[in-house]
Amino acid sequence: MEQIEKIRKQLEQDKEKVTDLKSLNDQRVAYLGKKGYITELNALIKEVEDKKTFGMEVNALRKEFETFYEEKKQALEQLALEEKLVKEAIDITLPSKKIKRGSKHPMTRITEEFEDLFVSMGYTVFEGREIESDEVCFQKLNLPKGHPARDAQDTFYLKEEYENYLLRTQTSTAQVRAMEANQEKGPLRIVCPGKVYRRDEDATHSHQFMQIEGLVIDENVSMADLKGTLELFCKKVLGEKTKVRFRPSYFPFTEPSVEVDVSCFKCGGKGCSLCKQTGWIEVLGAGMVHPNVLEMSGYDSKKYQGFAFGTGLDRFAMFKYGIPDIRTIYGNDLRFIEQFDRLEDTK
Ligand code: PHE
Repeated sequence: MEQIEKIRKQLEQDKEKVTDLKSLNDQRVAYLGKKGYITELNALIKEVEDKKTFGMEVNALRKEFETFYEEKKQALEQLALEEKLVKEAIDITLPSKKIKRGSKHPMTRITEEFEDLFVSMGYTVFEGREIESDEVCFQKLNLPKGHPARDAQDTFYLKEEYENYLLRTQTSTAQVRAMEANQEKGPLRIVCPGKVYRRDEDATHSHQFMQIEGLVIDENVSMADLKGTLELFCKKVLGEKTKVRFRPSYFPFTEPSVEVDVSCFKCGGKGCSLCKQTGWIEVLGAGMVHPNVLEMSGYDSKKYQGFAFGTGLDRFAMFKYGIPDIRTIYGNDLRFIEQFDRLEDTK
C-alpha cells in the first residue's frame, strides 16, 4: 500500500512536468509500459495479502493516470492546433502582387473594329486560308498563268510537291472560297480579314501584312451600292468629316475597278508629309466582280452581280494610331503594344 501511495505522489509531481505530447508519451511509457510503475504494481498483486484492496487501489491509480493522460493529450493537441493556425494565418489585408493585364495588339483592335462595323451592316465574317493554291489565289481571280499582273504580287511559293501552293498575296482569295462554299450559288455578304504575304519590306511595307476583303453578291447590285458602302465605311472608321473619292483603276478580278482615296486625316486635305502634299490618301481597292470570276466559281453572271473591296488593315492601324514604321507592328515589343491600352477595354 505504501508503494502505491509513493507512486501516486510521484505521479502528482510528474504531471507537472508534462509540457508537450512527447513528454506525455514518455510518462505513459514510464507508468504503463512493460516495466512501468503501475505495471510493476500490478505484478505485486499476487504477492500481497489483501489482494482485493491492493488490486482496487492499483486499478484506481491506473484509472487516474489514464484520465490524466487522455485529458492532457486533448489539451495539448488543441494547443498545437491553435498554434498552427496562428502561425499559418494569412494576412488578407496585405496588398497582393499586381497582376499584369495583357493588352490587345493594335491589329486585333482594328480587325475587331472593322468586323463589328460590317457585321452591323449584315455581313458575316469568313475564315480564309493563308496557304492557297495558285488556282484560287490567281487563276480563279482572272489571273491565268503568265498574266503580267501576277508580278506585282510576288510572293512565297511552297517547294517541290507543293509548288502549286503559295502564301496568299491577297485576301481576294476569300471571294473564290466563299463563292465555292455557297452551294445555292445565291446572295453573299462576307468580310474576310487575315494575313497576306508579299516579297517586300521597308518602313511602309512588310513581307507579311493584313488585309480585309469584302464581297457582296446579289441580284441588282450596282456601283452605287459599292460607293455607298465604302463611303459609309470610311466615314465610320476615320470620322464623319472624311471626304471620299473614287478613281478609275485596274484589277483583273473586277470590272470596272476603282481606287478609293480619303481626305488626309492629318492635315484635313491641305497637304502635308503624310499625304505627300496631295491632300488625299489611298485606302482601298474595289470594283464590280468580273463576270469571269463569278462564272468560274459557279455563279450565273447574267443573274447575279457583285462588288468587292480590299484594304490593308496595317495601313489603317498606322493612320489611326500614328504608327510610323509598319515593322514595329510585328516586332512583338511589349512596350509598343502596351501603348494601345485604352480605358474602354477595362470596362
Ligand atoms: N486584292 C486587291 C489588292 O490586294 C484589292 C482589291 C480587292 C481590289 C477587291 C478589288 C477588289 O490590292
